[in-house]
Amino acid sequence: MSAVLDASDETVTAMVSVRDLDVSFGSTRVLHGVSLSIETGRTVGVVGESGSGKSTLAKVLVGTVRPENGQVTVDAIDVNGLSHSQRGAFAYRRRVQMIPQDPFSSLSPRRTIGQTLAEALDPVHANVRRFSDQIAFWLERVGLSADMMRRFPHEFSGGQRQRVAIARSLILEPSFVIADEITSALDVSVQAQILDMLAEIKEALGVTMMFISHNLAVVQNVSDEVVVMYRGEVVEAGSVAQIYADPQHWYTRRLLDADPGAPGFSLDL
Ligand SMILES: Nc1ncnc2c1ncn2[C@@H]1O[C@H](COP(=O)(O)OP(=O)(O)OP(=O)(O)O)[C@@H](O)[C@H]1O
Ligand SMILES: [Mg+2]
Repeated sequence: MSAVLDASDETVTAMVSVRDLDVSFGSTRVLHGVSLSIETGRTVGVVGESGSGKSTLAKVLVGTVRPENGQVTVDAIDVNGLSHSQRGAFAYRRRVQMIPQDPFSSLSPRRTIGQTLAEALDPVHANVRRFSDQIAFWLERVGLSADMMRRFPHEFSGGQRQRVAIARSLILEPSFVIADEITSALDVSVQAQILDMLAEIKEALGVTMMFISHNLAVVQNVSDEVVVMYRGEVVEAGSVAQIYADPQHWYTRRLLDADPGAPGFSLDL
């Protein structure tokens, strides 16, 4: 069994472990028997068509959707066992960060980028001067410059705003980061730049990440392993090379057929 599916192996290196997860909304089952694990410092890509349950899985991991069945552990915390108030607690939200799909909605138009990043670190005082070294470090890390902390969101391009949103998630130094379709609103060339930047950060800092997209080409450059979802189930999992060289499931083969650039890096949007 591939490492990504082997959630039964309770090693200390698994940052995320999902076992036999079922989620229903009313009488509709949206996730069925989903199991996967993500080792510390690794990135797992989750691909699947619209409605396959990718965002629902992400919401279970951040604690906003409660599963019907299954064990979900993130950074040694039993997410399913958390009470409602524990899920909403700042401590848990800091550990698990979701990078938003649409950065405009997550950045306050009235706050400078510096204020937004300071607020992420300390919602009560949000003191830019106190955190300026940290803010400068993260802005540079995502390919922006430190002096941009004085600017407002409307002064940035879409790609730059997404970089700010990534900095805002990473500045908290979370144990686990979920990126759910974070490039789908961007131009193809800008997408590629953001993906390269994320791949670089991941290599340099060893961030543990789940990277979600409906597009296999988008996940391959950032991910160590890939999980393929179809109608709420994991139908295949393995390394990027394995999935490309020897796809097992017909749905994976269909995804690959729709991806003319394989196994190189291309975007077919
Ligand atoms: N709060 C909800 N109430 C009822 N049904 C929901 C809810 N959230 C999601 N669903 C349904 O669950 C299924 C999976 O949705 P989900 O958003 O997880 O898919 P997805 O893989 O993220 O799709 P996309 O690629 O379009 O983002 C869909 O059929 C959706 O309509
Ligand atoms: Mg989604």
